[in-house]
Amino acid sequence: MTIHALMETANAMVADGKGLLAMDESTGTCNRRFASAGIPQTEEARRAYRELLVCTPGLAQYISGAILFDETIHQRTTTGVPFTKVLSDAGIIAGIKVDLGAQALAGHPGEKVTEGLDGLRLRLTTYYSMGARFAKWRAVITPGTGLPSPACMDANAHALARYAALCQEASLVPIVEPEVLMDGDHTLERCSTITHELLLRVFEQLDRQGVILEAMILKPNMVLPGLGCALQPDAETIAEATVSCLLRSVPAAVAGITFLSGGQSAEQASARLNAMHQPRFSMRRPWPLSFSFARALQQPVLAAWAGNDANRTAAQAALLHRAQCNSAALRGEYRSAMENA
Ligand code: 13P
Repeated sequence: MTIHALMETANAMVADGKGLLAMDESTGTCNRRFASAGIPQTEEARRAYRELLVCTPGLAQYISGAILFDETIHQRTTTGVPFTKVLSDAGIIAGIKVDLGAQALAGHPGEKVTEGLDGLRLRLTTYYSMGARFAKWRAVITPGTGLPSPACMDANAHALARYAALCQEASLVPIVEPEVLMDGDHTLERCSTITHELLLRVFEQLDRQGVILEAMILKPNMVLPGLGCALQPDAETIAEATVSCLLRSVPAAVAGITFLSGGQSAEQASARLNAMHQPRFSMRRPWPLSFSFARALQQPVLAAWAGNDANRTAAQAALLHRAQCNSAALRGEYRSAMENA
């Protein structure tokens, strides 16, 4: 595949009014979310749930791509259609999480580095042949007293860049996801400082590894105070902090930016995304700004489904509603009244 084709895929992922559905929870994470919703933690329950998501009628109007997990990319509908085919028939691009999770970083208590580079070239080729056209790798940064360390940020930035270069070689658009966690009591300003420093290191490494920025997507956290911080600012303040931080840190050549939700409520994520699409911010930024939410799209869906197939239509309606709210946010037209519509 040419770089031109990769750029086309990247642009399609952030097409007007559309965002990504992150449904790439690892088995452990999916099971934890099922357990708290009282749903049995079986492979069949996970398959049925993912079938419900990918088969939601009308989803492609708001969703450009779906990020799958290794288990999911191998799964089929009850009638035997591979999920990748369901998605491509609907006009939704299939993507795949390829990192193997965050592990303790040696010599740095409390910090993690994401693993999965060994054998990645071969796995990427296999996923491409199965229909994936983009990939995702998440690095996790934990704010704390004296944290994150430069060593942790550098190790993760280096791995992200090696992964991204391998993706482009394998004709997959890399989603580069450096996440500053919301855990802790850090302030908005502290999150901004860490996010800025981290992104500078990530883009330095991406440049060093020869990653073509026009053929990649950045998936950052919004700039937010920790969940334990006493001061929780309004959506406007968060939009200002986030857009300013990104403008100082992200080259204009990047094809697009799609936020993770990171533990915000579904409504908060939509409201903050909406605030970033008011004209005073939109006119300042060179890249499309969209969403790649997991929890902020799926939490209401899981609650509506509750593991019972009789609730399938209601669960799909919940997904469509969240996708529609976030699509409206991309035009700056999301209103909290939409939640009661
Ligand atoms: P959340 O939106 O739930 O943070 O998940 C996004 C994601 O893809 C995490 O890797």
